[in-house]
Amino acid sequence: MLRRCLVAANWKMNMTVSQALPLAAQLATLTSGPLAEIAVAPPFVALFPVGQVLRPSGVALAAQNCHALSAGAYTGEVSAPMLADLGCRYVIIGHSERRQLFGESDSFIHEKVKAVLEAGLYPILCVGETLEEREHNQTLEVVSKQLQANLAGISSGLGAKLVIAYEPIWAIGTGKTATAQEAQEVHAHIRGWLQQLWGETSKQLRILYGGSVKASNAEELMAKPDIDGALVGGASLQFAEFSAIIEAAKKAMAHKK
Ligand code: PGA
Repeated sequence: MLRRCLVAANWKMNMTVSQALPLAAQLATLTSGPLAEIAVAPPFVALFPVGQVLRPSGVALAAQNCHALSAGAYTGEVSAPMLADLGCRYVIIGHSERRQLFGESDSFIHEKVKAVLEAGLYPILCVGETLEEREHNQTLEVVSKQLQANLAGISSGLGAKLVIAYEPIWAIGTGKTATAQEAQEVHAHIRGWLQQLWGETSKQLRILYGGSVKASNAEELMAKPDIDGALVGGASLQFAEFSAIIEAAKKAMAHKK
């Protein structure tokens, strides 16, 4: 089955609104097509203005996080229904920076995935192992455990909206990328795991790779059968580099057809 690939930009805590608007205007010239869909996740404060600029284009708006509850006395938090109302389509959940630096537990991430789905949005759930875990050959076990804890009890009907991002923590922002073969092995494992949970639905789900994706390695990664796109951090902050990644994705997908 040919899955339309997704290339999502994760700006993390970069870009003031003034810096974001010119980049958004450039991004709005890109076209999401039948082969590749594009999404951009700016910081919360830039979501509304960037969304306005992107609206006429086919580039989707994504958020980097949300709270698990829909409203209430949670100072400083943003809920999934707020993001839906703003025109977001995707929400990144369980990024390793959230897990490691902000202490987000598997059970909290599970609640967030459910909240995103209930709001009618598409979660991009991040999973991945540390360097130590990889060196101890625990990668597949760690990823399975995260999936189990983050997706338990979710029906295949709702699960059809899920996007997974496999992000080996040792490859994020380090310039080290998993080889295409290393990534493919984990992606195939994830799809097999999802098949156990949801059967045929697993074939339509997109599994993105993230971790130092750049124009020079994107095509080789996305040419692999179970790599259906990329979650791009650092390289998404420069228009030329990001648009080259999208071209590479389209090329890889055209060969997969
Ligand atoms: P990177 O980040 O591309 O800068 O490695 C990827 C991510 O954290 O999503």
